[in-house]
Amino acid sequence: MTVKLAIIYYSSTGTNYQLSKWAEEAAKEAGADVKVLKVAELAPQSAIDANEAWKKHMEETKDVPTATLDDLEWADAYIFSIPTRFGNVPAQMKQFLDTTGGLWFKGKLANKVVSAMSSASNAHGGQEQTITHLYTTMMHWGAIIAAPGYTDQVTFAAGGNPYGTSVTVDQQGNMVENVEAAVKHQAKRTITVAEWVKKGLTQ
Ligand SMILES: Cc1cc2nc3c(=O)[nH]c(=O)nc-3n(C[C@H](O)[C@H](O)[C@H](O)COP(=O)(O)O)c2cc1C
Repeated sequence: MTVKLAIIYYSSTGTNYQLSKWAEEAAKEAGADVKVLKVAELAPQSAIDANEAWKKHMEETKDVPTATLDDLEWADAYIFSIPTRFGNVPAQMKQFLDTTGGLWFKGKLANKVVSAMSSASNAHGGQEQTITHLYTTMMHWGAIIAAPGYTDQVTFAAGGNPYGTSVTVDQQGNMVENVEAAVKHQAKRTITVAEWVKKGLTQ
């Protein structure tokens, strides 16, 4: 049974794009049909142009498709990846989530399997809050949250966030913790849970 996975991210300077690419690699290895999708940028071009790293990342990812409601309907499972913004979900992702009212009303988001990742500049800068804020919306959808918990030792080495893999980014934009293995475990677990749910729903 092939699980369809949409990895939906927002990233200004590339961290969450990289997390998404690692998740894609692992999900494909697990046999899933995967789409990596960004959400639309809302910031004014002048703000992007004023930040070299942001401008560079926008240019490098200009061909990544933008997530649509059809993608949400298509997928059995979602992995979201977002940087924290004052301990909260970035407006760009929130704007996308706030377009899902019609799908929600028709029950189309119920039983989707979801998992989330995040990043921040500080080790305790709001990664956990950002993920749980995102999950609140998913609970309204009736989605099934597949958090990593401590289902594998790799979570401990990656900083121990059981809600979803998260990372600290230094002033140069480098990830401080090595979270690749934790991202990959989280992606594989999401696919496994989605297989269980999909199998149950089609019986
Ligand atoms: C408006 C704004 C608010 C931010 N708020 C926080 C914060 O509350 N805590 C923190 O540690 N980092 C904060 N950051 C830093 C970002 O989370 C960090 O740049 C991001 O995780 C890098 O991810 P990206 O490379 O995918 O854009 C903030 C950045 C911006 C631009």
